[in-house]
Amino acid sequence: MFDQASKLRDLVEERADEEAQARQIGELRFDMAETTRVIAITSGKGGVGKTNLAVNLAIGLQLAGQRVMLIDADIGMANVNLLMGSVANRSLVDLLSDDVQLEDVIEDGAAGVKYISGVAGIEAALNVNRLAQRKLHKKLGRCSEMADIIIIDTGAGLNRNVIEFVLAAEEVLLITTPEPTALADAYAVIKAYSTYTERRNIKLVVNRIRDEEECYEVTDKINQTTKNFLGMTVDCLGYIYEDKTVREAVQMQEPFLIVNPESAASRCITELAKSLLSGKRMESVSRGWRGFLDRLFGY
Ligand SMILES: Nc1ncnc2c1ncn2[C@@H]1O[C@H](COP(=O)(O)OP(=O)(O)OP(=O)(O)O)[C@@H](O)[C@H]1O
Ligand SMILES: [Mg+2]
Repeated sequence: MFDQASKLRDLVEERADEEAQARQIGELRFDMAETTRVIAITSGKGGVGKTNLAVNLAIGLQLAGQRVMLIDADIGMANVNLLMGSVANRSLVDLLSDDVQLEDVIEDGAAGVKYISGVAGIEAALNVNRLAQRKLHKKLGRCSEMADIIIIDTGAGLNRNVIEFVLAAEEVLLITTPEPTALADAYAVIKAYSTYTERRNIKLVVNRIRDEEECYEVTDKINQTTKNFLGMTVDCLGYIYEDKTVREAVQMQEPFLIVNPESAASRCITELAKSLLSGKRMESVSRGWRGFLDRLFGY
């Protein structure tokens, strides 16, 4: 009896929400001027430097005058907060509670970067019922009011949730190291991506290089394979040197760009931020953050 009543209540609630949602989507169609950049950071192999790139690039862009928000969407190893050097009290999944608002899950990180942390459970959140999805969609929509650039740290590899984030993002940075296994896995991501979408907005970042030459070699190797088998090539946005200050900063749970802004890795991050800001946005028609959410939630 109780069960039936609560099911009915859910249904009524869902209908009401559906209508509200329809109205909201109608409104969103007029909101095409929203230009928040959405950049997903992903990799084939794990442990190649995604989170370090996401955190430090976010700080680099913020220091360059952008309002940046970082969202940790790595289901397995949500650890942006560890590298941010501050403790997050809440995460994205908490938005599913009615009494939790967007502001409640946004933390202040280094240099004024805003971040949403530790999404252990996001898989559950994305696969839950449509009502919960819509709640998330609606609450997250307002992120674009608070940020010029939203960076998303995805997990590694080809599982469904990672691919969904990558496909929904307007721009994708695929990070790899020069190791053959990392290259093979990076290629697998490009291949998967190219089978799902016609868009060509993946750029490479080559991490842990000894010298600049190594970055060109890596890019060439990947592109020889992509040209032969996929009929396409990818550009390289930049590189990050192998640098012991990265490990030292990780030990201290601080971003290396803050600990040592003049280190080799930090200077590379500053260059990457400059390239992102000066270069052409990768996709000609951008639909901003709300476009990202619409794609992610399948609207
Ligand atoms: N440029 C670098 N120089 C030296 N060490 C590095 C560099 N980049 C990353 N590392 C090392 O690699 C480790 C893993 O980096 P990070 O956590 O950013 O990888 P990840 O791709 O996010 O991993 P996961 O797939 O587990 O999420 C760092 O803790 C650091 O020790
Ligand atoms: Mg990580």
